[in-house]
Amino acid sequence: MPDTKMNILGIETSCDETAAAVVRDGREVLTNVVYTQIPLHQPYGGVVPEIASRAHVEKIAQVVGEAMKGQRVDAVAVTYGPGLSPALIVGLNAAKGLAKSLGVPLIGINHLEGHLHSPFLWDAPEDATYANPDPRDLGPALGLALSGGNTMWIDMPAYGRYEVIGETLDDAAGEAFDKAAKLLGLGYPGGLKIDRLSQAWREAQVARGVRASALPFIPFPKGRPRDGVTALAGLPAELCVSFSGLKTALLRFVQQHPEAREEPELSRVVASYQEAIAQAVADRTRAALRRARCGALVFGGGVSLNSRIRAVLADVCREAGVPLLMAKPKYTGDNGAMIAGLAYYRRNHVADAMALDANPCLEVGA
Ligand code: KG4
Repeated sequence: MPDTKMNILGIETSCDETAAAVVRDGREVLTNVVYTQIPLHQPYGGVVPEIASRAHVEKIAQVVGEAMKGQRVDAVAVTYGPGLSPALIVGLNAAKGLAKSLGVPLIGINHLEGHLHSPFLWDAPEDATYANPDPRDLGPALGLALSGGNTMWIDMPAYGRYEVIGETLDDAAGEAFDKAAKLLGLGYPGGLKIDRLSQAWREAQVARGVRASALPFIPFPKGRPRDGVTALAGLPAELCVSFSGLKTALLRFVQQHPEAREEPELSRVVASYQEAIAQAVADRTRAALRRARCGALVFGGGVSLNSRIRAVLADVCREAGVPLLMAKPKYTGDNGAMIAGLAYYRRNHVADAMALDANPCLEVGA
């Protein structure tokens, strides 16, 4: 019998991962290759655009070649924004050349919209009974994208339609984690390290008999902008966060308490900082779920791996009576599968990407 399924190759180079994947019918990941540049950027404590661009150029052919090995490709999808311009250009040019030489359509995808597709990806054969529903059966949903560069609450009235209803006024959640880690000498990127230290601290406290509701957190600010409509984003303050005050509070605390840089106090400090971010996210999500008429919370982006944020959002969703849809851990960070997967659902609704330029400021829902 002829194979009527559609295989899409997705290419992602918006930041510091060179990634490509082949996904069948929008959900089943056939191949997934991610080359991370983190070690190249570590000495600088953050992503250096020129280094990122050069590394993408060096790796793109190998990564795409590996992802395509033995696979039929019916279309090529590529991230064309938002992200670092010199990095996006590498993936976009590779995708244009490949689509042309294969004689298949090219589909341009927004990176953040891609993150919100990651909860719908599954791997054969181990996920044959994967619980997350088909996105087209979802009805209206609330999207939450937390990554190194973005923090957004997105109303999705139907799958593939997006409207930003809340966002950060300054740092993204991942940036807030990374800057704290840098300040405390934990290296770059710091989200995962802070998560692990916090989890171990919490478990040790509970093992000592401290109730989970009475953990001795340092009361850092929860990043709530003043009430009303925010001047910067023009969005309701109750759906926006600001992490710059939290960062300053941490800096002051460390200046006043030099022991905060060392154990055992270090773990309490990072757990308190993480808790402030988690509670800020939970608070805005609760408000967004009240406002948006929605049947699920779709959670994506690198920070969606955070164990504490996952736990508090599970509580928020339980209270609201909506399912929480999250990606498998390996699809939380940047990858080509989320780009290929979303392209399947959007293939009839977006212009042919041959004419597209990289757009570092591409807006969600544009
Ligand atoms: O989505 P992503 O791979 O890249 C962007 O599109 O920005 O996200 C990377 C970010 C980094 O800031 C990293 O520190 C953060 O995700 N991150 C985490 C965790 N794992 C990665 N933050 C908190 N907890 C984690 N477990």
